Amino acid sequence: MMKKVINGLSVFLSAENESNAIVFVHGFPYDHLMWQAQVEELSKEYFCVTYDIRGLGESTVGDGQFTMEMLVDDLEKIIDELKLSQPVLCGLSMGGYISLRAVERMQDKLRALILCDTKSTADDDEGKLKRATAIKQINLGKFDPFIDSFVLNCFGEKFIKENNEEYRKVVERSKKNNTLGVKGCLLAMAGRTDTTGNLPKIKLPTLIICGSEDKLTPSSVMKPMAEQIPNSEFILVESAGHMTPIEYPKVVSRAIKDFLKRNGI
Ligand code: MLT
Repeated sequence: MMKKVINGLSVFLSAENESNAIVFVHGFPYDHLMWQAQVEELSKEYFCVTYDIRGLGESTVGDGQFTMEMLVDDLEKIIDELKLSQPVLCGLSMGGYISLRAVERMQDKLRALILCDTKSTADDDEGKLKRATAIKQINLGKFDPFIDSFVLNCFGEKFIKENNEEYRKVVERSKKNNTLGVKGCLLAMAGRTDTTGNLPKIKLPTLIICGSEDKLTPSSVMKPMAEQIPNSEFILVESAGHMTPIEYPKVVSRAIKDFLKRNGI
């Protein structure tokens, strides 16, 4: 992997070649390594680009004041700086929020869309209050317990039991995040717009992947999304929670590969 810093963000490239690119956008509160298994598999045929979202992983935190628009600006800047010609965009959860807004703003710049465990609706009042509680908890010095409970909710029981060492590693890495950056992301998510109205306007071939045990964005939320996107396919990953690419890496990589092939990419 090659690393480049673009606009203060750490960007990781699987090759120097910019053709047939896939840009992966990770979820909260994780980092680019969330896509490690997919990059290993798909970089045999595609130019894979991962990066750490502003405020998370190795990327800049700055003043910690983020909006969803800034996070989409960051993605656009990466695409432009790397001179990617219509990359495939693949986002999970918060990465999906960024991707859905990016598609609303600039679908002409993209070739296809992959949405994992995410939703198009904005935070409702309950969701906004949860963000406020999280920020309060962090301000009270309880960052580690916040991460412990948030990450626990993201993974399916089976993965936590059978792959406990890997699970622990994800938890520990998430705790290394800068607390200001984490709070900035919580505020950006709380303030994001609802992109549901744009779903019928998506012209890109779209793959929607959902874990059957996903508590944050269950299939009852994701299936209707797929129904509104004209050229879309929906895949349910059995026994997976919210983190399908980590929990069932082979199934997800294969689903992505098959989808891209079916669409001549
Ligand atoms: C994520 O996985 O990115 C988060 O669950 C998104 C969220 O908190 O809305």
